[in-house]
Amino acid sequence: MTSFSDIAADITSRLSDGASNRRSAMHTAVVATTDAELRVMVLRGYDAATMTLRFHTDARSPKCAVVGDGSPVGVLFYDKQAKIQLRCKGTGRIERDTPAAGAAWDESTNFAKRCYLGEGPGALTFEPSSGLPEWIEGKEPTAQQVAPARVNFAVLLVELAQVDWFYLSNDGHRRAIIDMASGEGQWISP
Ligand SMILES: Cc1cc2nc3c(=O)[nH]c(=O)nc-3n(C[C@H](O)[C@H](O)[C@H](O)COP(=O)(O)O)c2cc1C
Repeated sequence: MTSFSDIAADITSRLSDGASNRRSAMHTAVVATTDAELRVMVLRGYDAATMTLRFHTDARSPKCAVVGDGSPVGVLFYDKQAKIQLRCKGTGRIERDTPAAGAAWDESTNFAKRCYLGEGPGALTFEPSSGLPEWIEGKEPTAQQVAPARVNFAVLLVELAQVDWFYLSNDGHRRAIIDMASGEGQWISP
């Protein structure tokens, strides 16, 4: 790939596929916050028009307090087969009661919604535990049973500013920084 527009298109296509295709290597990402914490998260959506990644999370998890309504977030993807690394940088925000959060909740299965019935990530437990109430352990809940969990559900939206695209090759690695808003690029030594 020799043009920045091709690389920008490659980034868009990989992120879109990563969101919709659970077999894509880019369906899971490592998400970094300003407190030097990193965690694996499932990529649930990518809006190419606004260059925004969407993740689902528990509103009570520590990352939500760190990100709040605007904070730098890094998102790392690596597709071993394609030999492509994407290091994304942008501004994250947590939304709970917005149309985006509502739509994300509505499109989730009852099984996925079940995760938000527990005490929330970070709650200390006296023994090894899923954190879920015992009555729902190992079962698929009904819509009525998961309804109270809605209050614990949030989306993490990351509006991308820049993507560092890295292609591994025996003939010489290639690396470019793409400004997502303008589409402008800069070659950089790998
Ligand atoms: C394969 C995998 C996928 C995960 N997906 C998510 C996810 O989509 N959303 C999420 O909040 N946590 C997800 N987690 C859990 C996080 O890595 C992390 O443990 C959790 O969010 C704790 O919250 P904190 O990072 O705010 O402390 C996933 C973990 C694994 C191993």
